[in-house]
Amino acid sequence: MWTKRILALLMVVVFVAQAALGADELKPIALPKPQMDGGKPLMQALKERQTLRAFSTRELPAQVLSNLLWAANGINRPDSGKRTAPTAVNWQEIDVYVVLKDGVYLYDSKEHALQPVVAGDLRALAGKQPLAKVVPVNLVFVADRAKMGRAADADKDFYSATDTGYVSQNVYLFCASEGLATVVRGMVDRPALAKAINLRPEQRVILTQAVGYPKEKE
Ligand SMILES: Cc1cc2nc3c(=O)[nH]c(=O)nc-3n(C[C@H](O)[C@H](O)[C@H](O)COP(=O)(O)O)c2cc1C
Repeated sequence: MWTKRILALLMVVVFVAQAALGADELKPIALPKPQMDGGKPLMQALKERQTLRAFSTRELPAQVLSNLLWAANGINRPDSGKRTAPTAVNWQEIDVYVVLKDGVYLYDSKEHALQPVVAGDLRALAGKQPLAKVVPVNLVFVADRAKMGRAADADKDFYSATDTGYVSQNVYLFCASEGLATVVRGMVDRPALAKAINLRPEQRVILTQAVGYPKEKE
């Protein structure tokens, strides 16, 4: 008798939990148009480029997130669809996944929008250091080797690493220009993160990069 009641209660709990999860499903986010003027002069941004690892929990406004993603790997020549970062053979194999508090999104450069990938706070998986959990934005640079033609595996490794470097440096320079803190990270559990964001076997996590406001000095 009691076993039946407990089972029935458990089923209700599971049903309610599933309903709640469904309600939490992510929606695409249309980003505001990126602002392509302004910012610090290039030489000043280069002078100020640095790694900072102490972050405030303050969220990035939508416009700043929009500008950041466009600077990272947005389309800067709409006629050809080419990007702010170069890629070998113009493979454009580097995708930027965006880990926010409510879930993970894929930056869609054509629509300049965020496409939902998975709901939930996965920030802790974006890097092994504790900062990953508190920083408002973690970028994940993913190489889609399916876009790299018939290149040998060693070439795919080499070019996906170099191509990621350009995207990361764009982020560093944008952060220097905007007074944001950032750190690129190789210390990340790649298989765990790849699984959590449902990557295909040909997709590889290369690096992650945290972006936020610098922690105020206490
Ligand atoms: C490929 C790469 C991987 C890195 N991985 C990490 C990391 O996992 N954690 C970290 O705190 N910093 C990481 N860094 C940041 C470096 O430690 C940092 O760039 C270096 O200390 C020089 O400091 P600077 O960027 O201020 O010039 C990485 C940098 C690069 C280029």
